[in-house]
Amino acid sequence: MQKYSKNKIWFLGRGFEEYILMFDLDISNLSNCRILDCNAGSSSFTTHMNQKGFDVIAADICYGKDPEEMEKISEKDFFTLMNAHKNLQDKVEWVFFKNHKDMVNYRIKVYHDFLEHYKKVKKEFYVESKLPKLPFLDDSFHLVLSSHLLFLYDDRLDYDFHFNSINEMLRVSSKEVRIYPLVSLRSHYKSKFVGQLINDLSSEYQVKVQKVNYHFRQGAYEMLCIQKNPKHEDKCRLVSRDIIKVEGK
Ligand SMILES: C[S@@+](CC[C@H](N)C(=O)[O-])C[C@H]1O[C@@H](n2cnc3c(N)ncnc32)[C@H](O)[C@@H]1O
Repeated sequence: MQKYSKNKIWFLGRGFEEYILMFDLDISNLSNCRILDCNAGSSSFTTHMNQKGFDVIAADICYGKDPEEMEKISEKDFFTLMNAHKNLQDKVEWVFFKNHKDMVNYRIKVYHDFLEHYKKVKKEFYVESKLPKLPFLDDSFHLVLSSHLLFLYDDRLDYDFHFNSINEMLRVSSKEVRIYPLVSLRSHYKSKFVGQLINDLSSEYQVKVQKVNYHFRQGAYEMLCIQKNPKHEDKCRLVSRDIIKVEGK
């Protein structure tokens, strides 16, 4: 089995229901929205959203690979992480998941759903891209989501990478960028970059830290919302709400 490495950025994905909570999404307001899931990994958000008729594209550094190789990477990273996770019980709260077994079963379904979709529609929905650059035109999306890369891995990705990646997400978004979580991997506290980023972005954008209803990693109860002033009004409404009906959970 692959050894757990403290320097690796893992190719693991959260599920559709987790995304709804992590980003405080109200999908009834997203029908006219084009969404980008940045550094999406083996998440099933794009899979489920497209099956429900929403317009979502996923981007990740790994998406150039063919489906067979992607399956191998997904499985290797999944089993290594789930094994390592047994020793991290003090870092998580059993709220979204009942227990370790519940989490493992849920995450198996997530990456299987992702792989099935990736095999069928890789070219259309899964775009290879390496932050801090994105291969999309300005204002291509209404909403850009990014989870479990920025802030979390602040011990191996420096401030410039964070600043440039967020500015690139803002370039391709006409409305808003949401980032979750704000904690770094080795603590329950906000990443050292959060304060400086809010400072550096606030002169040009509306930036706020917002509580979310997703509870798993201790301390990871907030997302960062960065809003642009829209150049023109369109039908997309990105409204959050406090109580979200989560399908399937
Ligand atoms: C822990 S996963 C997060 C996946 C998903 N967003 C989630 O929340 O479950 C981190 C992802 O970031 C991707 N990644 C790492 N460096 C990247 C970069 N420079 N550009 C784009 N993606 C990157 C990895 O391939 C991996 O899929």
